Amino acid sequence: MSRSRLFAALLALVPLVLWTSCTGGPGAEPGGPPADPKAKRPLDAAFEWQARVLCDTQALPGFEAGGRKIPEKDSPCIVVVPKAGEDPAELLKEAAAVAAGERGIMAYWAAPDVATDEAARKAGVAGITGAVAPHVGAAIPVDIRPALLFVNHGGFIRFAHLPGSAWDGELFRFEARELAYEAAKAKGGLRIEVRRITPAPSKEFKGALYCGACHRGMFRDWLLTPHSIALDDLVAISRDQDAECIGCHVVGWEKGGYSDREKHRPLADVQCESCHVPERTHSPTNPMSLKKDDYVQMCVKCHTQKFSFFQDPGMAMKYVSHPQRAAAEFDPKVDYDMRPTAIGSIKDQMYAEVCGKTDYVGSSKCLECHKQAHEQWSGTPHSQAFAALEREGKAEDPKCLPCHTTGHGQKKGFQNAKDTPDFKGVGCESCHGPGLKHIEAKNDAERLSTIFAFDQKCPTCVVTRICQSCHDEHKRPCIQKGEAPFNLNDFIKKVRHR
Ligand code: HEC
Ligand code: HEC
Ligand code: HEC
Ligand code: HEC
Ligand code: HEC
Ligand code: HEC
Ligand code: HEC
Ligand code: HEC
Repeated sequence: MSRSRLFAALLALVPLVLWTSCTGGPGAEPGGPPADPKAKRPLDAAFEWQARVLCDTQALPGFEAGGRKIPEKDSPCIVVVPKAGEDPAELLKEAAAVAAGERGIMAYWAAPDVATDEAARKAGVAGITGAVAPHVGAAIPVDIRPALLFVNHGGFIRFAHLPGSAWDGELFRFEARELAYEAAKAKGGLRIEVRRITPAPSKEFKGALYCGACHRGMFRDWLLTPHSIALDDLVAISRDQDAECIGCHVVGWEKGGYSDREKHRPLADVQCESCHVPERTHSPTNPMSLKKDDYVQMCVKCHTQKFSFFQDPGMAMKYVSHPQRAAAEFDPKVDYDMRPTAIGSIKDQMYAEVCGKTDYVGSSKCLECHKQAHEQWSGTPHSQAFAALEREGKAEDPKCLPCHTTGHGQKKGFQNAKDTPDFKGVGCESCHGPGLKHIEAKNDAERLSTIFAFDQKCPTCVVTRICQSCHDEHKRPCIQKGEAPFNLNDFIKKVRHR
């Protein structure tokens, strides 16, 4: 397959993608918040759908072409879904060439309308046939075309591509090989003629969708960690164009990786190559040793004292270096829609582990040395948060206690209203962490290092993290219709003690 042809095809697509994203749909204007916050930008939606394909099992909608029923049993194939009104010739050549590179893989097109089907026939490309089958394109929930689908021997879409999100000729060849490998493996027998490929170490960043072609389980696993939403969290507060913020929330910032959302959507968020240095991955002479210590150097580039809520990456490792591993790879119950729950659960476990390092002491213990802060706090709704439960008759409901009390479920934290009255409501330690070590400290340095003292912390990265352990719309059963969403800038003013 010729590279120049691929580039020609890609170049033809670029203006299209830019056009779609600059003029079409909400959220198009760079920098500004999306018109409708629920509506995704096209490239984000494209990435999401491709990730979903890697995560969930999706059957190819059936159609007929060249006298065959597609998908055919035991026969992997590549399906081009051309864009209506666009000459599909280059794309058909590309797909036919990739299919021809692996034995037993067929190539088809599924045209959106008669005119596009005719244009495909007129192109006269050898090794590919097709039909009018608009329902195949309609099954793709993103309005970017064309699309390229890689379908396995069982008739399931294993990989999917849309322009601008993960479109890479080399990747297509890997995926064709993975289809052939899977088909050979499914046939059984001891002779597996098709071998998996290990790519050469790279100087470029490629993005997680690329790695996911061969490391599917690792990809699913990564999707369930907070790293996979790192840039989304900036988008949510309209800071994703802010050079001060982007670096630690993407792959390869100022190192030849992400620099622009439209150009580099595949490198948004903290991905594989944030931890696995491309030049060292797959390198027999210079492997990133798989000892955890070697990875800690990577973590602390972003998880610095100021920007991280925890201080010990070694401890945090188990939550993000492929925690579910085998389960993610083989468990059909693991699907894309459980992401918010899985990510939330990692954050909850982290919070409990970080705050489990010492005992809770109760807000009245802080009064002695922090009179002013205590006075201010006593006048805030936080100090009265337990009364809200009492009013609702829910003072013993375990669903409500975590956010309306202090240190619920933690060492010496809230047990019940009678035995631990000092822990009713959102107390000092709900935000500053458990206080025993702080109170017993022998000097100021020790005092400061044993409490969350937000003055030295990134106000958005760390302080939001703490507030959102409760102010999280996904987690709150008590959320009201029309209630103002959590907004740090507005909310923090009411919390400050000075
Ligand atoms: C030096 C690297 C770095 C920079 C620069 C950085 N962040 Fe972060 N950010 C992090 C890390 C690390 C976390 C994870 C914090 C944690 O939970 O330990 C994070 C988390 C966050 C979160 C998620 C909080 C939550 O709810 O869990 C937000 C929002 C955020 N950062 C916003 C920002 C903004 C806004 C800026 C620019 C002002 C910024 N970040 C700059 C490293 C960085
Ligand atoms: C937060 C850092 C981090 C991210 C992000 C990350 N990994 Fe890893 N990965 C690790 C660490 C640490 C190890 C080695 C320790 C371990 O096995 O837990 C590892 C191990 C691996 C291994 C070797 C596993 C084995 O059993 O030999 C592969 C393959 C891998 N990762 C692929 C990926 C892919 C693909 C992605 C993205 C979809 C990814 N990783 C994202 C940290 C990360
Ligand atoms: C064409 C298929 C393919 C692609 C694409 C691919 N890998 Fe691999 N990778 C392999 C194979 C094969 C191995 C050998 C071990 C195995 O079978 O898992 C491997 C091994 C690894 C290992 C463990 C050994 C080492 O060299 O450190 C890591 C980590 C890893 N890959 C990360 C990645 C990352 C990150 C990406 C994306 C940039 C990626 N891989 C893309 C096929 C691939
Ligand atoms: C490129 C920067 C970067 C690297 C490298 C990185 N992280 Fe992160 N990490 C982040 C950001 C940003 C977040 C916040 C994601 C979000 O919630 O928006 C985060 C979140 C986390 C969380 C969830 C924290 C919480 O608040 O509950 C854990 C745990 C974590 N990282 C551990 C690690 C470990 C361990 C490593 C090294 C193996 C690592 N990270 C490497 C940037 C990074
Ligand atoms: C015995 C006195 C004492 C008690 C009791 C005490 N603190 Fe402190 N606290 C200090 C001192 C002294 C400092 C350090 C002041 C400095 O160096 O800026 C400090 C610092 C802090 C800081 C950091 C302030 C900053 O400047 O960034 C926080 C937050 C804090 N304390 C919260 C608490 C909480 C919450 C409690 C109750 C669990 C508590 N303290 C109980 C004496 C005390
Ligand atoms: C994940 C944390 C969380 C859980 C769990 C939770 N709440 Fe809340 N609740 C909050 C937060 C945060 C607010 C304040 C929201 C705001 O004003 O922006 C709140 C506000 C309220 C309010 C309104 C405050 C007032 O004074 O009238 C009531 C009532 C309430 N919660 C009851 C409950 C009940 C009952 C449950 C259990 C069914 C519950 N909450 C569980 C976090 C939580
Ligand atoms: C809702 C979360 C929250 C609660 C509850 C809370 N704080 Fe704070 N505290 C903060 C934040 C945020 C800051 C940093 C504010 C800023 O940006 O100036 C802070 C700052 C401080 C400081 C250092 C700066 C100052 O204003 O003196 C001390 C000391 C402190 N808190 C003590 C306490 C004590 C004692 C209590 C309980 C009586 C308490 N806090 C309850 C969030 C909280
Ligand atoms: C332990 C859970 C928890 C944490 C952590 C927490 N909050 Fe709250 N917050 C609540 C609850 C519960 C309420 C509702 C109290 C009530 O009205 O009964 C509330 C209410 C508020 C209110 C009043 C809302 C209103 O409509 O007037 C503000 C402002 C607020 N929180 C800001 C913050 C900020 C800023 C942080 C982080 C520095 C934070 N909270 C951390 C649980 C929490």
